[in-house]
Amino acid sequence: MFASQPVSELLAQAGVETPTYVYDLDGIRQGARDLLNELPEPHLVAYAVKANSAGSVVRALAAEGTGADVVSGAELELALACGIPPKRIVMSGVAKSDRELDLAVVTGIRGIQLESVEEIARVAARARALGQRARVAVRINPNVLIDSHAHIATGHDAAKFGVPLADLGAAWQSIDAHPDALIGVGMSCHIGSNMGTTDAYLESGKILCEHARARLAGGGTLEYISFGGGFGIDSGAGTVVAPREFARVARGLLVEHGLDALNLVVEPGRSLVGPYGALIASVIQSKLGRERRWLMIDAGMNDLIRPALYGALHRIEPLEHPPSAGQWRVVGPVCESSDDFGEHPLGDAVPERIAILDAGAYGFVMASEYNGRGLPNEIFVAGGRVVHVSRSSGSKGWLDRRLKA
Ligand code: LLP
Repeated sequence: MFASQPVSELLAQAGVETPTYVYDLDGIRQGARDLLNELPEPHLVAYAVKANSAGSVVRALAAEGTGADVVSGAELELALACGIPPKRIVMSGVAKSDRELDLAVVTGIRGIQLESVEEIARVAARARALGQRARVAVRINPNVLIDSHAHIATGHDAAKFGVPLADLGAAWQSIDAHPDALIGVGMSCHIGSNMGTTDAYLESGKILCEHARARLAGGGTLEYISFGGGFGIDSGAGTVVAPREFARVARGLLVEHGLDALNLVVEPGRSLVGPYGALIASVIQSKLGRERRWLMIDAGMNDLIRPALYGALHRIEPLEHPPSAGQWRVVGPVCESSDDFGEHPLGDAVPERIAILDAGAYGFVMASEYNGRGLPNEIFVAGGRVVHVSRSSGSKGWLDRRLKA
C-alpha cells in the first residue's frame, strides 16, 4: 500500500513498469502545512528544490505557500515557472555563474546568499552592468560539526561552503562598499543534512543570531536570517524531530536575541518530501549465496544512489505481504559492489515486488543512466489516484542518445 492505495493498482493506472518512484502529493502538502503553521508570513519556508525538483511536487508546495531555496539558474527558472514569487526565493551556491547571477539579480529574488568574500565584487559588477541593485545575504560557515554522514556536513572549517566567521567583517565591509549595486538583506547558514536532533541547529543558530545582532548594532541593513535546512527524517529507528520543532527552536532563538523584527527563513528539502516517496522495484532473480540470500531487483544505484554514496539504509518492504523474519540482501543490477541496498526482513518467500521507502528526497534527482539503464518512471498520487505520470524513455532513450554521441 502507498498513499492508502495498493501499489500494483497505482502502477496499472499509470501504465508503467518498474523501477518507478511513487509520490504522495497529499502527504507532501500536509507536511508543508504543518511547518507553515509554525512559520506564517512574513517568515519563509524556502523548500530546497534540489531534494525533489519534479514540477508536480514543486507546484504542490508552492500552492501551500512555500518558497524555494535554489542552487542553480535552472532551479531558479523551475521555481518561478511553478508559481513561486521572486520574494519567496533564496539562492545559495559556492560557484554561481555570471548567467545565474544575472537571472537572480534581474528577477529580484529575496536574497542571493554569498559564499565567499571574493564573490561579492563579482555580484556587484553584474548588478552594476544590469543597472540594478542586488539583494544579497552572507552565508556564514559557523564551524559547527553535525552528527551525520561526512559527505553531508557542510558547516565546518574544512568544508567549501560559506564565509568563515573570521572573514565576516570583511564580507560586510565589501558589501557596504557597493551601495549603488548591493544591499545587504540577510544572513544564512546551512550546516548539513539529515540532523536527528536540534542540538547543532541551536548551536549554529546562536552564532548566526549573535552576528546578526552585531550587524544591526553597527547600523547595517538586515531583513532576514536563514537557519538553513537539514531536518532529518525517520528512517526506521522511530525517533524523529518534526520540522516544526526545528522552526520553533529558530523562532525561540530570534526572540531570545531580540531579533524578532527580522524575518525568519528555513530551507528544508528532505523533510518536506523524503517520507512521501517510495521507489518500487521488481525482483528479477534470487540467489542462495555462501553467506546470505541475495535478492536482485530491477532498481539499482543508478536509480537511488544514497546507499552507495552515504551508506544510507532505506527500509524495504515486500508489496504482497507484510515484512517478516527471513533476511535478504537486496542488490541492484549495476556492475558495482556498492549497488547494495542492505539486509532486509522480507520473509521466506521470494517477493515479486518491493518498495524502497523514504525515497522522496535525493532519489530521482540524483539518478543516472549508468550501465545503459534508463531513468526510472515517476508517478504522482493525490486523492487516492494517479494524477500525473512522468515516463522514462528507458534504455531505448539511452541507446538513441549514446549512438548519436
Ligand atoms: N540549504 C542549503 C544551502 C543546502 O545546501 C541544502 C542541502 C538544503 C538547504 C536542504 O537540506 P535538507 O533539508 O534537504 O537536508 N544528497 C544528500 C543531501 C545533500 C544536501 C545538500 N544540501 C543526501 O541524499 O542525503
